[in-house]
Amino acid sequence: SVLEMEVEQIKKGSYDHFMQKEIHEQPHSLTTTMRGRLKDGGILLGGLKEHLKTIRRSRRVVFIGCGTSYNAALAARPFVEELTGIPVTMEVASDLLDRQGPIYREDTAVLVSQSGETADTLLALDYALENGALCVGVTNTVGSTLSRRTHCGVHINAGCEIGVASTKAYTSQIVAMAMMALAIGSDQISTQARRDAIISGLSSLPRNVSEVLKLDVEMKDLASSLIDSESLLVFGRGYNYATALEGALKVKEVALMHSEGMLAGEMKHGPLALVDENLPIIVIATRDACFSKQQSVIQQLLSRKGRLIVMCSKGDASAVCRSGSCRVIEVPEVADCLQPVINIIPLQLLAYHLTVLRGFDVDQPRNLAKSVTTQ
Ligand code: G6P
Repeated sequence: SVLEMEVEQIKKGSYDHFMQKEIHEQPHSLTTTMRGRLKDGGILLGGLKEHLKTIRRSRRVVFIGCGTSYNAALAARPFVEELTGIPVTMEVASDLLDRQGPIYREDTAVLVSQSGETADTLLALDYALENGALCVGVTNTVGSTLSRRTHCGVHINAGCEIGVASTKAYTSQIVAMAMMALAIGSDQISTQARRDAIISGLSSLPRNVSEVLKLDVEMKDLASSLIDSESLLVFGRGYNYATALEGALKVKEVALMHSEGMLAGEMKHGPLALVDENLPIIVIATRDACFSKQQSVIQQLLSRKGRLIVMCSKGDASAVCRSGSCRVIEVPEVADCLQPVINIIPLQLLAYHLTVLRGFDVDQPRNLAKSVTTQ
């Protein structure tokens, strides 16, 4: 009805679509995710406090999720391993169920779901509970089935997300899991300085997110150059392997363009065969321990005349692309393990603009639902 349409427009404020509004809301949603939780240089997570000791004693952390929530867990994996010393394995919820993969009493299962109602994730939760694991929920929805059935957990407090393509929930999930990793690892003296640096990185994150959002016009321009492409590859590694998967997921789910996120380390084992002058390839090469490896990936792609778009840290344009034959996206540099929060934002903007320019429905992509409550 006309009334419903008007209410809808009021909710979108000055934005054309919910996805666009939610992308631009991220400085605020990340602030609410952290509110009251960064205390006196430490981390306070009320929903986890009582269980930290048990988690520290666990033999393994098993991350379980679907879609964007799985990708957020993948982004968290490296820093959870680093800060806790506990091995982390990754499970797509449906695949864990298909395999009936082993889960033990000594495991901590961390179930990640924006809605807290995804059927596959809830079935995987039942399965983990039956097998005696400690089950931790990471969700955006207070009172959801996930938050009620898990032993403990963290609410990400990103605010209601309406666009089917998850954006602000993704970045808040990563930040919530960063706080979780800091809390679990807080008994380790050897990593105190590292934890302090990450906590200070968290405090300045909203400001850096505002900064990276200024790339909006540039990403619209990039989108217009990709509008007729059939396919888009995204190469990442280390902390930003998840960014590659999530960037590609945004492009395929809303812009309806074939896109794959790939581990840059696997490039030479297959994907390199696809490289030519036409296929656009985004390479994520922001500063971290993998930087020089990514520089050589870029050289290999350029020597095969690859059509490159390189994402790098501010000031690194000439370091990543000496010949000047690639397009560069410069982003602010933050603590390496938090860089995925920054790096996904230009890709969210790109997917958004590609969708609008290609004339597709941004908030309700064909064949998809916000919450998949059937198996
Ligand atoms: C659906 C949505 C995705 C979402 C996934 C997991 O496929 O379209 O955007 O990432 O479900 O949802 P959850 O609520 O469990 O995070």
